[in-house]
Amino acid sequence: MKDLKKDFPIFKYNKDLVFLDSAASTQKPEVVIEAIKDFESRYYANIHRGIYKLSAKATALYDEARERVKKFINAKYFEEIIFTKNATESINLVATTLAKDYFQDGDEIIISALEHHANIVPWQLIQSFKKIKIKVIPIDDAGNIDISAYKALFTDKTKLVSITHVSNVLGNIVPIKEIISYAKKKNVLTLIDGCQAVNSFPVDVQDLGCDFYVFSSHKLYGPTGIGVLYGKKDILNKLPPYQGGGDMIKTVSFEKTEYNDLPYKFEAGTPCFTQAYGLSKAIEYLQNLGMQNVFNHSQDLLDYAQNLLHKTFKDDIKIFGSKDNKVGIISFILKDNTSSISMIHPHDIATFLDEKNIAIRTGHHCAEPLITRLKVPATARISFGVYNDFDDIDKCVKTLKEIKSFFKNGR
Ligand code: ALA
Repeated sequence: MKDLKKDFPIFKYNKDLVFLDSAASTQKPEVVIEAIKDFESRYYANIHRGIYKLSAKATALYDEARERVKKFINAKYFEEIIFTKNATESINLVATTLAKDYFQDGDEIIISALEHHANIVPWQLIQSFKKIKIKVIPIDDAGNIDISAYKALFTDKTKLVSITHVSNVLGNIVPIKEIISYAKKKNVLTLIDGCQAVNSFPVDVQDLGCDFYVFSSHKLYGPTGIGVLYGKKDILNKLPPYQGGGDMIKTVSFEKTEYNDLPYKFEAGTPCFTQAYGLSKAIEYLQNLGMQNVFNHSQDLLDYAQNLLHKTFKDDIKIFGSKDNKVGIISFILKDNTSSISMIHPHDIATFLDEKNIAIRTGHHCAEPLITRLKVPATARISFGVYNDFDDIDKCVKTLKEIKSFFKNGR
């Protein structure tokens, strides 16, 4: 995977940009940007509505996009792929619809200490009308899930396990197969937040055996405004609709409404079909690269960056998370042992890096409880995309060295 920057126009317009924040959102390849323009220019008409060729073509492209997503994660049925606004909306959809009939007061759900706010807050929101209890699987200092503690959380009230596939802060790959298989034994539903997994390695939902799997397009080299909810057909069929209007109805009268079949039952209003086309082109781009190659590339970058950081900063850097079994995400703090403070604030690091046009993320990364567990106010986070190379890492580490010496000598 050499020189992919040429596929991404952002690097043409920002010549010296070193983009190391792909976990927040990936840049878009030209094929995706062009596809969106192409769709709006050539094929645009509302889908599922018009008895004319243009609408039929737009509808066919929307169906093809769903089919491509289905194959990408190896879902069994076309109807199991629901297009949403993003992964957050996918989790809110599941939380809200399960809360209507499935959860009873006193039921329990299990999440983990690694979760993004999007897999915490939707469950808290439904607590306002269903008295469910949220239990949290503890992690060790490296962010590894404590599997025996997980198993000990189950009671006869447990109804759902909702957990991330990959930590967006640490990059740790969570052993979700083991987690899902235990939940299945206990007859408990499983939801997996796959945002940082589908962009990093091949995902097969049938092999995983989960009931729900969610992700966003914008972290998968596709456009914003579209996400995916995969759900097993028999379960989705039993859930009530989430929102009303547009595509989710079959017939409406003032007395009674008949809802549409899957997947449309969960796609109220005019769907995001332009974005679906863009997402399908992003997936096609990744499939042409090969997801295993994408993973191998991120592992090469990860090894190189972690080794260089350790070699350069020795005891003055703390990298959080596991050493291996992780994707291309590095969360760290730089220690400043020479002054009264023990850490160069990550925001200072990011501001300094930005001066050199190097983009990283700092803060709590939308996972505040995890950052609290790590006992730091924030971390600096480098995350890789397919377009990154060793040169990007060299530039970043060189600037980090300058930051370190600035804080040692200059403040
Ligand atoms: N969840 C995104 C991140 O990790 C925004 O940065």
